[in-house]
Amino acid sequence: MEGEGSRRGQAMSMDMDKLLYRPMEMSDIPAIIAIEEEAFTSPWTAEAFMNELTNNMFAKYLVMAYKGELLGYGGMWIIMDEAHITNIAMRSDLRGKGLGHLLLEQLQRTAVFYGATRMTLEVRVSNETAQHLYRKFGFQPAGVRPRYYSDNDEDALIMWAELDEERLKTGERSN
Ligand SMILES: CC(C)(COP(=O)(O)OP(=O)(O)OC[C@H]1O[C@@H](n2cnc3c(N)ncnc32)[C@H](O)[C@@H]1OP(=O)(O)O)[C@@H](O)C(=O)NCCC(=O)NCCS
Repeated sequence: MEGEGSRRGQAMSMDMDKLLYRPMEMSDIPAIIAIEEEAFTSPWTAEAFMNELTNNMFAKYLVMAYKGELLGYGGMWIIMDEAHITNIAMRSDLRGKGLGHLLLEQLQRTAVFYGATRMTLEVRVSNETAQHLYRKFGFQPAGVRPRYYSDNDEDALIMWAELDEERLKTGERSN
């Protein structure tokens, strides 16, 4: 049975010094769109990402890269002390190896750096993988947005988490 340790081990067997997080750049957008299109049934367009990077002063978007290759990305709007995750996705061939966990932790660290104390997101009620990940970070369901996803009229679960500033600043892993 593939357990927590073995999944994480796969990410840890990478040369972690070469795993980096950096702000998303316009030149990343074609690679982002390729991941976005395999990850979501209603993917954002290149224009939507361009708009976020150029016109939205609240937006912070990060990419995770390894040896020059883009593995995943995530973004959020930080407004006052609240960070609202807009999207997070890993390349499909790299899922389940612990990388999404690392990326979400980095998003939380970035949110704390910019003064956020709480984080929220919406997730499809059917997306158990993502919900499992979020619960590990202390996200709790706080309501439902009925028929939020127009492609299939699926409800969104709204989740909130308090950001543990001390843990994130010391770099200690969530469990
Ligand atoms: C959600 C997503 C970003 C997670 O990234 P990932 O690299 O696959 O996640 P990880 O390998 O770090 O797993 C983190 C946790 O997610 C859960 N998880 C991962 N794969 C899972 C699976 N197949 N089934 C159930 N839970 C799973 C587990 O809780 C896991 O923690 P554990 O390994 O300690 O048990 C990724 O699956 C993805 O890109 N999905 C498509 C896009 C998407 O749904 N984004 C979220 C929108 S709200």
